[in-house]
Amino acid sequence: MPLKRTTARIQLAQPTLLAPIWKNQLYCGDCLNVAERIPKDSIDLIYIDPPFYSQRYYEMIWGGAEVAERFAFEDRWRGGIQTYINYLSERVQKLHELLKLTGTFYIHLDWHISHYMKVELDKIFGYANFRNEIAWCYRGGGVPRKDFARKHDTIFRYSKGDDYTFNVDDVRIPYSDDVLDSLPSRYDKSYRANKVYEGYRPNPKGKHPEDWWLIQPLMPSDKRERLGYPTQKPLALLNRIVLASSNKDDVILDAFCGCGTTLESAQSLNRRWIGIDVSHTAIRVVQERVAKIVGAPTEIYGVVETETELRELDPFEFQNWAINAVQGRHSTRKIADMGIDGFTFLENHPIQVKRMDHVGRPVIDNFTGVLQREQDKKGMVIGFSFTAGAHSEVARLLRESGVHIELITTRQLLDGLTVKQITIM
Ligand SMILES: C[S@@+](CC[C@H](N)C(=O)[O-])C[C@H]1O[C@@H](n2cnc3c(N)ncnc32)[C@H](O)[C@@H]1O
Repeated sequence: MPLKRTTARIQLAQPTLLAPIWKNQLYCGDCLNVAERIPKDSIDLIYIDPPFYSQRYYEMIWGGAEVAERFAFEDRWRGGIQTYINYLSERVQKLHELLKLTGTFYIHLDWHISHYMKVELDKIFGYANFRNEIAWCYRGGGVPRKDFARKHDTIFRYSKGDDYTFNVDDVRIPYSDDVLDSLPSRYDKSYRANKVYEGYRPNPKGKHPEDWWLIQPLMPSDKRERLGYPTQKPLALLNRIVLASSNKDDVILDAFCGCGTTLESAQSLNRRWIGIDVSHTAIRVVQERVAKIVGAPTEIYGVVETETELRELDPFEFQNWAINAVQGRHSTRKIADMGIDGFTFLENHPIQVKRMDHVGRPVIDNFTGVLQREQDKKGMVIGFSFTAGAHSEVARLLRESGVHIELITTRQLLDGLTVKQITIM
């Protein structure tokens, strides 16, 4: 099915929710920038499942690799864990502005970071607006020899104010057999808080759910639902969130949408939605996923799919696109003047973007100088193509002085890179 799209330049200039006829929206870009395009106080429910501490990243960065255990947790980020907290808080602050006064926010984290972020979230939403710490519990392999098995993620739920949606009847769960099998007299009286309640009966719609949810993650055998996207969450998890905290036709935003689980849930439960992801690969997966349910293409903003389109972008947009495509951090203008256009994902190594073909040896020499000045031994240069001279100089630098410059072509970016490549491991 052909998928509709327009170029970044045209689309990013357009307002979104102000359109007279609603269209679900998919954006490719850093949610920090895309949030600027979305009117404030317009979203009913936000769910985010940000990267780094989720499976894919720490498997690639910590797990398995022989280097893994040599590094303390903080060392994996230059500037320590505070860098990550700042990165995430800045984005949550922006998303908070987009929520309606009646809106709800869910953030999906795990033990690495959840306790640090709780403090920041309380500052952004207000302590009184904290609603739940949900433990998403699951079973599975990977049991440590000398620790309890870590088998839950933490999802914080906040409201923007006192008046928020909570549809408990839509998310009630079955009572356990123990309760249902009890003798009827079991329900004649119940004792709570030193009071006796006469005539208590289980609610026919089911039990009010606790703040721990036993929902299995997707397994390789889940052929119907599993798309192969490494951090894909189960629909059952998102359906519970969407049903509990939104109503039909409400607007739901997932600002780190990955392969679009929230969007599928919203679509199939008759909500409206906006998805944002910085990765072109993710956006392509979402396009196909949603098209299968909707039966029609979704309009996409910010996606460039061909080299011809890339060449039409002005230098500033081209640079933005390239930095986003490697999930990097944009540099300030001041640093850009010194030969650094951005910094790599997680590891913060310098990136130089060249909007040209046949990037040659002089660029590599110049960038080596930048790395020396920054006292760094790793960096990335992005261009349409590189000369043989550039490649051999990069190989020589690695061999003779341990300097690792990753040469990335726009073709590779359009096809999608691995986490190893974008972090320069
Ligand atoms: C853990 S995954 C989300 C998985 C998703 N919940 C699902 O079920 O598929 C995190 C996603 O955030 C995206 N991402 C990373 N940084 C981003 C940013 N600054 N803005 C938007 N998306 C970003 C990554 O490309 C990745 O797809």
